[in-house]
Formats: sequence, C-alpha cells, structure tokens
Amino acid sequence: MPGFPIDVHLGEHGLLDSIADDVRRGLSAQQKFLLPKFFYDEAGSLLFEQITELPEYYPTRTELNILTDIASDLMQRVGPQELVELGSGSSTKTRVLLDARYNMGTSARYIPFDVSKTIVESACEDLHGRYPDIALHGVIGDFERHLGLIPPAVGRRLVLFMGSTIGNLELPERLELLDGIRKLLSPGDFLLLGMDMVKDSAVLEAAYNDAAGVTAAFNLNILSVINNALQADFNVEEFRHRAHYNHELDRIEMHLYARSAQSVHITGLGMTMEVAKGESIWTESSHKFTQETAMSMIEEAGMCLDTWYTDSLHYYGLALITTR
Ligand code: SAH
Ligand code: AVI
Repeated sequence: MPGFPIDVHLGEHGLLDSIADDVRRGLSAQQKFLLPKFFYDEAGSLLFEQITELPEYYPTRTELNILTDIASDLMQRVGPQELVELGSGSSTKTRVLLDARYNMGTSARYIPFDVSKTIVESACEDLHGRYPDIALHGVIGDFERHLGLIPPAVGRRLVLFMGSTIGNLELPERLELLDGIRKLLSPGDFLLLGMDMVKDSAVLEAAYNDAAGVTAAFNLNILSVINNALQADFNVEEFRHRAHYNHELDRIEMHLYARSAQSVHITGLGMTMEVAKGESIWTESSHKFTQETAMSMIEEAGMCLDTWYTDSLHYYGLALITTR
C-alpha cells in the first residue's frame, strides 16, 4: 500500500483510449502526423530519461544548472506550501527545489501530474523515501484536458512546467494551457516555466539527432505505442528518424521517414494507411523561444513576468510568472 494517493484520469492505454480521433485525423492528413504526447508509454518515458543524459541534449542539464543557482532565492521569494508540476516525468530536477524548500510547513505537498502512470509511480516511490515530511499526491491525466481535476490548493502554490514541454505545443494550444494554469493560481501564487531558446541550428540539430541513436529509438517508439494501443501493424524497422530545424518558425521538426512503400493496418480504427517510400510522419515540433517571444506569449496569456532566469550562454530560460 503506497503512502500516497495517485488519481488516474486516463484509461488502460492512457491517452490512446480517448484520442483515437486524433490518430485517425493525423494519419489521414496530407502531411501525416502523430501528437508528441503519444510518445510517453513506459518505454517512451524511459527513453526520454536516457535522452536527458546525452552529451548533445543540453536542455535538461542547463535547466538543472539554472535551478541549482536560483533554488534558494526562488523558494524564499515564493514561499510555497505546495508544488504542482505539469509533465513532471521523473521529477529529478524538482528535487533541487524540494531540497531548498523554505518554511513549507506541515502542510507541504508535491503534486506530480503526467500522462505516464509508471513514471509518476516511480517518482513518488523515490520522493517518498527522500522526503517523508512532504505529502505526495500524483495525478495521471492530460494537461490539455484534466487541469480542473487537480486537488484544491492547501496554501500558496508554485506551479512548475519545466523541460520546455510547452514548446511541443502550437501557440493557440500554449495559450489555452496557460489560461488553464492561470485558473490554478490565486493571487500570490507563481508559475515557473522552462523554455529552450533559439540558438545555433547545428547545436539544436545535434541535440535531436544524437550519435547514440537514443532520440531515434524514442521517436520510433511512437509506432510501437500505436501498434499496442490500436492493434496496428507498423513495421518499426521500415522507418528512419530525422529532425530538422525550421528557421522560419524557430522549431525543431521531428519526422519518421518510410524506408519503403507500406500498407499499415490499424485494426482499432478500422483503417488501412498507405505510406509512400520517403514519405514522413511528423511526430513532434519543439519550438524554441527568444526572450521577446516568451514575453509576448506570457502577456498574451494575461500573465506577468516577475523574473527571467537564464544561463551564461542564454541556451535556456526559466520565467517566474504571476497572475495579473
Ligand atoms: N519535466 C520533465 C519531463 C519532460 S518530458 C523534465 O523536464 O525532464 C515531457 C513530460 O511531459 C513527459 O513525462 C510526458 O509524459 C509529459 N506529457 C507530455 N504531454 C502531456 C500531456 N498532454 N499531459 C500530461 N503530461 C504530458
Ligand atoms: C519533452 N520535450 C520538451 C522534449 C523536447 O526537447 O522537445 C522531447 C524530446 N524530443 C526529442 N528529444 C527530446
């Protein structure tokens, strides 16, 4: 019996139980696409953890370094009783903030929220051992649909949305999500938002085409996720990973290219899909920000920038945000 509740708002196949329509729409489109939130079954979450350790993938390391520098000042300034983290994954970086907690009091609580049940369970097991004084309350859900199901606040709240996961959404979805986050905040509460910054495209492309092929395995795993959840027969070996930087739109675009012409049957959708040799399925956009584009997004969402934190190379930004 775990010492913490985990609320589950998704079915057996996670998101795929509820978004068959999204898969059908994506695979029927002229430019075929799948949504990046489908990456994160158990294997996908583990592969993402491996990505964070890659020499080429600088975002996690850089965000961790910034957090280490600011944790003590930040936690004193905000003084939260609880942390709510969206897309929390393994919660590894969060430990830096929990270590620096200041006056969190007896009602201290941490709420990790993620689509991936296994990663939240293992994160909670780990955190329970490290911080027995902090109440844990896991939530398994889609931050685009289930923010309203987060338990009511126990006191001043700091919402965390790190890892630049916001960059995996298009601007209208980002604004909608920020609006949902605003509703989680009361006056005096804060949001800490992590964003990967525009930089030399060679650095960006290397981060998404690593030499060890871990990002390729992560990208290809999305086909196994669809195979398992929707009884499809994608031949994973007949696809090849590639990520390119789009300079006009400031984003990495990650694709799976068919090595050969194929017919794919998706029993769960009752559909057969034809893929031509060389055709791609677009699986992820990872938008990169400047301080200006970050600021205008925050303002457009009706929120206020309190403090902008970055590293010496300006590779990564963390925005401490309040409601107006
Ligand atoms: N915050 C962690 C993990 C980033 S990876 C870090 O910075 O290292 C992105 C995380 O967001 C994954 O754990 C994934 O499962 C989760 N995620 C992606 N889309 C989601 C959605 N729509 N709702 C909830 N969680 C989501
Ligand atoms: C979670 N997200 C911000 C990662 C990113 O960098 O866009 C996912 C990822 N895709 C490939 N590598 C990492």
